Amino acid sequence: MNQNILEIKNLTKEFDNFKLDNVSFHLPTGYIMGLVGKNGAGKTTTIKLILELLEKDQGVIQVFGQNIIQHYDLKQDIAVVFDEVFFVEDWKISDVEAAISPFYINWDTHIFQNYLKQFHLPTQQKIKALSRGMKMKLMLAVALSHKARLLILDEPTSGLDPVARDELLDILLHYIEDEQNSVLFSTHITSDLDKIADFLTILDNGNIFFTGYKDELFEKYCIVKGGIDNLNQDIEKYLMGIQKNSTGFSALLDVKNMKYMNGHMVIEEATIDDILIHINHMEGE
Ligand SMILES: Nc1ncnc2c1ncn2[C@@H]1O[C@H](COP(=O)(O)OP(=O)(O)OP(=O)(O)O)[C@@H](O)[C@H]1O
Ligand SMILES: [Mg+2]
Repeated sequence: MNQNILEIKNLTKEFDNFKLDNVSFHLPTGYIMGLVGKNGAGKTTTIKLILELLEKDQGVIQVFGQNIIQHYDLKQDIAVVFDEVFFVEDWKISDVEAAISPFYINWDTHIFQNYLKQFHLPTQQKIKALSRGMKMKLMLAVALSHKARLLILDEPTSGLDPVARDELLDILLHYIEDEQNSVLFSTHITSDLDKIADFLTILDNGNIFFTGYKDELFEKYCIVKGGIDNLNQDIEKYLMGIQKNSTGFSALLDVKNMKYMNGHMVIEEATIDDILIHINHMEGE
């Protein structure tokens, strides 16, 4: 069996004002990867390229070890949840199954009905009358009911209350339990990543800033803080995304450069939010 459920090499896509530039990462079978980066970093573009909703300029996208473009049936094994519903607003939940299931060879009505019950979804209600959380749950129920092995979600938890978010994360954890499935999901809610992501891919303006085990990110980067008078050219060349304010500065530091810092500075563990914020300050450095 192929070890990587998803493998992306040198993926490039250029728009007028944006370039997804030479993006490479891989997601092993049995794991959850979070895709992060600020608004406009290229997360949705990456997801759409994987799903062939957009045409790539260059690069290789392999799912289950095969080129998706040559194996159209692979799409049966991929499930997708976007942050907007794609069902007809006037459908009732009970209509959804009839409309969607013919597209999937492995549709399992039993699983779908169980999710409707588990999520307390009112089958006679129209799509347009559902709350945001209910719509997300409905899309998730559909996504999980055709025995897909790769689940791709674009900001699934945005707009969900903490209880619904926690439920959704638990479902994703349960989904990978048998070590046959993987999840790729984009999010701005970094506590989701703390809770369930094994791997992280951080996009910065269309480029990969980091991809790998989440723990490796924290082993590689830390935050350094100090007074403004601690800063000089020799120090600054090691600092990334320096943020200055009236009380001092903070910056991102590659741990291997810690030896160049002096005793007046404080080194702290970085959070994902810290890293994203400092990456944003790197532009123009
Ligand atoms: N079809 C398109 N034509 C032209 N530009 C596009 C198109 N789709 C996306 N873009 C541009 O590509 C960039 C990346 O957009 P993308 O939607 O991938 O970002 P994102 O990381 O998903 O952001 P967000 O967190 O806001 O969802 C943006 O500058 C966007 O304007
Ligand atoms: Mg997006």
